[in-house]
Amino acid sequence: MPRLAVIAESAAHETRVAATPETVKKFIAQGLEVVVEAGAGKRASFSDADYEGAGARLAPDAASALAGADILLKVRAVTSQEASHLAQGAYVAALLNPFGERETLEVLAGRGVCAFSMEFVPRITRAQAMDVLSSQANLAGYRAVIEAAEVYGRAFPMMMTAAGAIAPAKVFVMGAGVAGLQAIATARRLGAVVTATDVRPAAKEQVESLGAKFVAVEDEEFRAAETAAGYAKPMSAEYQAKQALLVSEHIKKQDIVITTALIPGRPAPRLVSEAQVLSMRQGSVLVDLAVEQGGNVEGVNPGEVTRLGGATIIGLYNLPGRVAADASALYARNLHAFAGLLFNKDGALSPDLEDEILKAALVARDGAVCHPSLLTA
Ligand SMILES: NC(=O)c1ccc[n+]([C@@H]2O[C@H](COP(=O)([O-])OP(=O)(O)OC[C@H]3O[C@@H](n4cnc5c(N)ncnc54)[C@H](O)[C@@H]3O)[C@@H](O)[C@H]2O)c1
Repeated sequence: MPRLAVIAESAAHETRVAATPETVKKFIAQGLEVVVEAGAGKRASFSDADYEGAGARLAPDAASALAGADILLKVRAVTSQEASHLAQGAYVAALLNPFGERETLEVLAGRGVCAFSMEFVPRITRAQAMDVLSSQANLAGYRAVIEAAEVYGRAFPMMMTAAGAIAPAKVFVMGAGVAGLQAIATARRLGAVVTATDVRPAAKEQVESLGAKFVAVEDEEFRAAETAAGYAKPMSAEYQAKQALLVSEHIKKQDIVITTALIPGRPAPRLVSEAQVLSMRQGSVLVDLAVEQGGNVEGVNPGEVTRLGGATIIGLYNLPGRVAADASALYARNLHAFAGLLFNKDGALSPDLEDEILKAALVARDGAVCHPSLLTA
């Protein structure tokens, strides 16, 4: 019977867990043995008793959970300490952050395991249930608005009261991908007046369908800014200058700015300058979701909340981890769907590594890092 291990995340700011009692139950029904390190789900509100109730065996520490494991499911990259307990030929699936944590990936490869980086799961229809980037970005966009509302000293909705009226908050979302669209929807639900920008033309209709106004430099370059895969291209210096001018005019009238702009495999584009932050009014709030890729806002401090002029810049890490129970539930379901590909038709642990999804996500096998984008990097 293949053994699947789930361990507690060792990264300080990581509150999520890679399997929930719900997915543990499913794995067991499929004939796997599941071992969970005691306390693994605690920060995501899943107790050891919940896991035991689902049929998992509890292990007192990571080393004993990993001993004899055929599959390891994790949220974050596998540390060298954790990797040292893995057997050759074991399978690992996690957000391995292969560009940012190359050394840990090398150590993992050196153990002779077969490692899959969930960031590389292709965004094709068959892999939708495994799309961890979308499931986590969605919650990050939601949480970004909640973080802003917490710090903002005013209400979001317009209120007509006997004591007079309160004006609605003006929210500007920069980058209207999965996270940005959820931020728009959340801010609208709270009653804010929302505008949004993106460099991809396809974003315009999506923004407008959520009841927000689209604000962008819509020139020739904008019309060609989407790659075949649906992602943004890096924009020219000329476009960036035009965008900066537009943003400067717009941002000084905003109360809340949420930035989510990313370009795959590159540092995040700088979208808000220090001067633009300083032009905002007292009490305004910026939330930079791109902080782990270098940040969209000048002056953002990774992992921190900073004051700049009258504004507060929120650069907290891991916003999905601040909705840990839901983020874990979605992530665990994504991993459960992905892990299904590791088994052949007869239910044996024997993945077809030529399968389109596995091939795209495979980053290490036979003792070496193997993903094409990592070999050229
Ligand atoms: N087919 C699928 O299953 C699937 C799933 C999820 C997302 N997608 C698509 O992938 C695309 C990207 O989504 P994502 O959320 O992963 O994106 P992302 O996280 O890579 O980037 C966030 C957003 O920032 C924008 N951006 C980049 N540079 C910018 C700049 N200079 N100024 C303003 N905005 C900028 C991007 O266009 C994107 O919308 C979207 O088209 C989305 O619909 C497809």
